[in-house]
Amino acid sequence: NEGALWGARFASGPSPELARLSKSTHFDWQLAPYDLAGSRAHARALAAAGYLADDELATMLGGLDTLEARFVAGELVAADSDEDVHGALEAALIAEVGPEVGGKLRAGRSRNDQIATLVRLYLKDHAAVIGRDLVHLIDALAAQADAHRTAIMPGRTHLQHAQPVLLAHHLLAYGWALSRDLERLVDWLKRADVSPYGGGALAGSTLGLDVASVARDLGLAAPADNSLDGTASRDVVAEFAFITAMIGIDVSRLAEDVILWNTREFGFVTLDDGYSTGSSIMPQKKNPDIAELARGKSGRLIGNLSGLLATLKGLPLAYNRDLQEDKEPVFDSVETLEVLLPAFTGMIATLRFHTDRMAELAPAGYSLATDVADWLVKRHVPFRDAHEITGSLVRYAEERGLDLDAVDDAALAGISPLLTPDVREVLTIEGSVGSRTGHGGTAPERVAEQFAALADRVRHL
Ligand code: ARG
Repeated sequence: NEGALWGARFASGPSPELARLSKSTHFDWQLAPYDLAGSRAHARALAAAGYLADDELATMLGGLDTLEARFVAGELVAADSDEDVHGALEAALIAEVGPEVGGKLRAGRSRNDQIATLVRLYLKDHAAVIGRDLVHLIDALAAQADAHRTAIMPGRTHLQHAQPVLLAHHLLAYGWALSRDLERLVDWLKRADVSPYGGGALAGSTLGLDVASVARDLGLAAPADNSLDGTASRDVVAEFAFITAMIGIDVSRLAEDVILWNTREFGFVTLDDGYSTGSSIMPQKKNPDIAELARGKSGRLIGNLSGLLATLKGLPLAYNRDLQEDKEPVFDSVETLEVLLPAFTGMIATLRFHTDRMAELAPAGYSLATDVADWLVKRHVPFRDAHEITGSLVRYAEERGLDLDAVDDAALAGISPLLTPDVREVLTIEGSVGSRTGHGGTAPERVAEQFAALADRVRHL
């Protein structure tokens, strides 16, 4: 095989079965632009160290530029005989500039340090895309919250009515979670921003190449300080897969809320026609498929992470071919999120909330009972007693099918002399929500502060 990167020490070429197993061009071809960028940086380092004359460097860079243009135009494709993107591009370069110059590029580098660098470049670019997608989703949540500043909904724990909360408070809660995912991406970059280039196969280069300039050329902060670690570690890839899985999980929790809210029983939201789907048999159906796909795809993102961790477990240093298995899962996670997030954001941005329905259900299930207990505490009743008195009130009302505010004065006094008629001032959902003024609470003025705080946090990440 003309273009192969190895072969001289073998009596025969690879068997067809091996070639088929070994092949990675069907997924690593998308790394071609990064491979070419690496080759340009490496060529300059070779020239600076005296291994390429000025005209040879110019020829080589010209050839690499031509390959890039052909790749962009979709004219450069891997041949059937190519094992991976690295070999394919070297063969293409040699075809472009001849073996005399093209054959010099491989000095002082290995596919091991190349691939370890390229995957970081790929992930760095996609971290920016996913980060932008996250900001759009956070913005959509904040815009919906802003459009519903006073709407009150049943807050739940254990999926049971617990205490009323502002819809805006609930929506912003997801915004905060997603802002931490964004922060994770930003923080990940500190560890990812390293160039293993020049580490060679494992032990470093003998050629005195300036690896710091290669890193700089590639837009990476620094060269790897240990060539074994640089070529063989993939924690940066696994961490990225974790972040994508965490994003998937945060989105799937919101998806589950949307699915519930969209049921007839809840009736809290209507999905926009452009962001919902129909049924092939039931003409009346309008389904929340985007939310369901989000919930489903979170499983796939978790699977990609688990598979990657399982691949890494117990791998001895340094490079092992197992490491080739890092790419498909993380590429899949990237592609999954980059398709999911814009659709999900569109669904959130176009949700119509039925705030009357939410407000109607907010006091149900005696969700104002804690407010009665707190009202007693403010009158210096020990919370233990306040809890007991309120519990008796709830039981009294429940046995008679009454709301708390429908219990009459005499009955209140009968339950406890401490329950004077003015307790009714806390028996409205507005009163309940308005009184939760503690930091981070659901009172309208506290929630109003969150808009600026969240926007500020996202802007400064
Ligand atoms: N395709 C490999 C990978 O993705 C890089 C090539 C290293 N191959 C080798 N035989 N050392 O990790």
